[in-house]
Amino acid sequence: MLKGVILAGGLGTRLHPLTKVTSKHLLPVGNEPMVFHSVKQLTTAGITDILIVTNPQYVGDFVNALGSGKDFGCEFTYRVQEDPKGIAHALALAEGFANNGRIAVLLGDNIFETSIRQAADDFQAQPKGARVLLKQVPDPERYGVAVLNGDDRIVAIDEKPEHPKSNYAVVGVYFYDASVFDVIRTIEPSARGEYEITAVNNAYIHRGELAYSFVQGKWVDAGTFDSLSEAHQILLNASDWC
Ligand code: G1P
Repeated sequence: MLKGVILAGGLGTRLHPLTKVTSKHLLPVGNEPMVFHSVKQLTTAGITDILIVTNPQYVGDFVNALGSGKDFGCEFTYRVQEDPKGIAHALALAEGFANNGRIAVLLGDNIFETSIRQAADDFQAQPKGARVLLKQVPDPERYGVAVLNGDDRIVAIDEKPEHPKSNYAVVGVYFYDASVFDVIRTIEPSARGEYEITAVNNAYIHRGELAYSFVQGKWVDAGTFDSLSEAHQILLNASDWC
């Protein structure tokens, strides 16, 4: 059974002063705190065992907002990331929770117009490896960028490249088999001092084990004022499932 991990740490400095007293992931988007969207993405995909990773100062606020999971038809576990050393570093905290099983990982600031259920089902049908989701964007330099060979294989992912080789952003939803934690132990910090999720995904590419799906509908990484406002519009209009 696939378990879910929502990464909701980080300082959200690009959203100051909104994030001076609370987590970015608890800001209102649509009519709810942002993190509710990630929870609903997972439960809609049939994933009900969910770990929330956040930073020490806000963990109590997450527990207040989300509770045990009873109201969402799921069960939450909480873990604290003491040092913000990158997404892969935060994900390493999920090893005990994953308990040698497969996981779906969501970055808590990624908002989608449609459900990720199909991608989760496609991952479950994979014998092994990992799966990422791609979306064509006008500003790929802000993201991990997938370099595609023809249309059937990702040959590399470049993290926030100055000169992007494609306009396919790798969005913040990742599916991994149980070997992801061994992979994380092999990666080195990037030039900005972070354990990058892109390094993890590149390791799967080198093993020939990275599959991908395309995101249907709109997607935003709600980390800036403009994208936060876009996320708000997306969720107010996407009333069919979330
Ligand atoms: C992170 C990842 C990047 C990905 C993005 C999606 O970037 O490092 O590869 O494309 O999330 O939201 P961040 O937004 O944390 O800088």
